[in-house]
Amino acid sequence: MNWDDSSSGTPGGGPQPADADGPDRLVAPSADGEDQAVEAALRPKSLDEFVGQERVREQLDLVLKAALARGATADHVLLSGAPGLGKTTLSMIIAAEMGAPIRITSGPAIQHAGDLAAILSSLQDGEVLFLDEIHRMSRPAEEMLYMAMEDFRVDVIVGKGPGATAIPLELPPFTLVGATTRAGLLPPPLRDRFGFTAQMEFYEPVELERVIHRSAHLLDLEIDADGAAEIAGRSRGTPRIANRLLRRVRDYAQVKAEGYINRDIAAVALQVYEVDERGLDRLDRAVLQALLKLFGGGPVGLSTLAVAVGEERETVEEVAEPFLVREGLLARTPRGRVATPAAWAHLGLTPPTRSPGASGQPGLFGA
Ligand SMILES: Nc1ncnc2c1ncn2[C@@H]1O[C@H](COP(=O)(O)OP(=O)(O)OP(=O)(O)O)[C@@H](O)[C@H]1O
Ligand SMILES: [Mg+2]
Repeated sequence: MNWDDSSSGTPGGGPQPADADGPDRLVAPSADGEDQAVEAALRPKSLDEFVGQERVREQLDLVLKAALARGATADHVLLSGAPGLGKTTLSMIIAAEMGAPIRITSGPAIQHAGDLAAILSSLQDGEVLFLDEIHRMSRPAEEMLYMAMEDFRVDVIVGKGPGATAIPLELPPFTLVGATTRAGLLPPPLRDRFGFTAQMEFYEPVELERVIHRSAHLLDLEIDADGAAEIAGRSRGTPRIANRLLRRVRDYAQVKAEGYINRDIAAVALQVYEVDERGLDRLDRAVLQALLKLFGGGPVGLSTLAVAVGEERETVEEVAEPFLVREGLLARTPRGRVATPAAWAHLGLTPPTRSPGASGQPGLFGA
């Protein structure tokens, strides 16, 4: 393996998702600048404070306690799940629970094996290395990581061509915590080297209510149970979105309602920000509306649908559709996008009675 092997430094894992859910989108699952600042303050610092994900928490608790009891470093941990579910938070908790320092880096920052070797060789004994977006690391770095994870050793190549020699370098024991939003893109040899894999799930509304109460307390806000429930219901199963909506409702409450948040205030505030009862925003609803009103519920091709809402194809596909599909409002079929009965109900529209319609194509449901 060559340290400065830039020629084969193609990022692993194929095409990357476009970073399309821009900061102006209140329900975007990714973090913007303001989020990042507030998130640091709202992050739970221990497993006990971490809300929900019961199974992951219980399993992780055992892994960490057992390692502590053995006086060893914990096994490598892989955290996978959608943006905003708590992967970064959990990685910091792992370090805190182990009483170990944490080094934070990410796949895209490691394009050459040498970048990784430099980090690995400077780790302290027992340190937690958090590798965010691990599916976006380059191939050569990935291969170096295999050996580091398994044998706590890397081979440093000095020189080039036939005269190159490999100098083995011992590493201190460390715990790798990898995070990925796309576990499917991880090569199996990498996935297999993690001793514990946690698949983070979307949160239940009651769990999000607890997140909201906790954050409200930290932000010194007054909110009642119904107010928290109203925000939780619109948060798309994602704590990051719950915290963001809470902050917008706070703004509204401070200006219009002396700071106090109840169900009415939360509902009216989120109406102002165009986030509906189910968490759909303007773009989501525009897509559904076009699908239902212009195309009779589909099937319609993605490009046509995108033109109808005046957006890029990628925006509709990567920003609006994942949540609509998850909510069972829209289906992607080989013949195109199709609205489900739930979509008609959500927008308060009546599906057309089945007849050889304008598109001349039978619908998906009942066809
Ligand atoms: N279980 C939880 N309990 C309380 N708050 C949480 C929980 N999970 C996440 N949060 C909050 O949600 C925010 C986002 O979490 P985090 O940054 O860990 O998500 P992530 O999975 O790393 O997202 P990304 O994939 O975008 O990096 C944090 O500020 C944290 O306060
Ligand atoms: Mg993160």
